[in-house]
Amino acid sequence: PLPRAFEQPLRLPPVLKPTRTDATTDYYEIVQRAADLEILPGARTTAWTYGGTFPGPTITSRSGRRTVVRHRNELPRPVVVHLHGGHTPHDSDGYPGDEILPPGGRPTMAMGGHAMPGNPVMGHRDYTFPMDQRAATLWYHDHRMGFTGASVWRGLAGFHLVHDDEEERLPLPRGDRDIPLMIADRSFEADGAFRYPSIDRTLATVPGVHAAHMNGVLGDVILVNGVPWPVHPVQRLRYRLRLLNASNARNYRLALDPPPPGGQGMVQIGSDGGLLERPIAHEGIDAAPAERFDVVVDFARYRPGTRVRLVNLLGSGRTREVMAFDVSSSAKAPREDATVPARLSRIPRLDPAKAAVTRTFLLQKRGSSWQINGRDYEPGRPLARPKLGQLELWRFVTDLHHPIHLHLDHFQVVGRGTRGLGPSDHGWKDTMDLRPAEAAEVAVRFTDYPGSFVFHCHNLEHEDMAMMADFTTE
Ligand code: C2O
Ligand code: CU
Repeated sequence: PLPRAFEQPLRLPPVLKPTRTDATTDYYEIVQRAADLEILPGARTTAWTYGGTFPGPTITSRSGRRTVVRHRNELPRPVVVHLHGGHTPHDSDGYPGDEILPPGGRPTMAMGGHAMPGNPVMGHRDYTFPMDQRAATLWYHDHRMGFTGASVWRGLAGFHLVHDDEEERLPLPRGDRDIPLMIADRSFEADGAFRYPSIDRTLATVPGVHAAHMNGVLGDVILVNGVPWPVHPVQRLRYRLRLLNASNARNYRLALDPPPPGGQGMVQIGSDGGLLERPIAHEGIDAAPAERFDVVVDFARYRPGTRVRLVNLLGSGRTREVMAFDVSSSAKAPREDATVPARLSRIPRLDPAKAAVTRTFLLQKRGSSWQINGRDYEPGRPLARPKLGQLELWRFVTDLHHPIHLHLDHFQVVGRGTRGLGPSDHGWKDTMDLRPAEAAEVAVRFTDYPGSFVFHCHNLEHEDMAMMADFTTE
């Protein structure tokens, strides 16, 4: 029996403490291990976790201070960690061949049974993040070749928040009114186990899911921070909600129900890559897998005692509900100290007319794989060799819905064909949702780090079923 909505309190992932810090660097350690969690009331779910919780612990970094995270693998399978949205050198970026093997484990083979290029290690790996980047809501998750969908579904995902002076100077809601919300659908077996339709139940060799799920695996339970349809009490004040769609394949159109009088209840202040230039008020927000939207909601616009639901207008029945906020019933609102300034940041425009190179990528299904330019993912065979520092225009042409993600640098969406930019396209992005039969362009400048990186569809089943490619910066 599925739990009732809005009965369990929202949980916040624990904030990870450094094991030590020095003049330049904060050091962390995470043990990846199986843990029995109570996700559905009264049932036990064995999850794969970062440090025993789902989501994993939240890591916080200061822009400009190096962060080193030692990941120890005590899971029965190889793992790879990727900091999504991180401006990270190749060797710490979670390239799919850079596995952390369990004791005695063997590296995962690439599709077709070839050895992966990369640098597998046994036991643990230190990921070094220079954190030379602006404040933003990032997240980390598993990135194992061919098995990312299965691993993230089992729990391998967490927040990594970057803070900086620019953002801290703004009078935005903070402290317990700055809330990361990881939204992820899952389904469960009758005994509480995660249900995921892997072809290879052992997750050892054959990647991907059964044909019926090739479009992406959807769940019938919506979790927010690992809790099904939670409820959270709020005061009649402004709150910053860091919305992350961490679902494998589900798209959301997030809206407040009821909307506040006058509407436009979600004021977006940030996107994947941090603060927008100016706030944008939305009725609803389209969030594809891996996208982040930082929004401010002013609960003072509601009458005391209102239950405000965060709903998914693309869902139906139970998947239409996400979570609820119970507005304090006390008639006297506490003193407000937060506002949303009319100007948040400055974002230099990347001018597509100045791009030195235009590259076109065709995203298509063929047989049992999802392909880029007619090819299954072939690690070590890059589809592009961008020059560091050079402005490029990347054009994506698609058959079906694909959220495209580029590693290494954030980009700006500069074209959507005749449809014009969408409300979700503003600011610095690292994931862009392509709608069926669409062509879209992004302007991007890769910087600082030479080496092999990947770009891929962030529908994790598409990613696992070959919709990924290398690019090599030089
Ligand atoms: Cu969030 Cu390459 O992934
Ligand atoms: Cu896709």
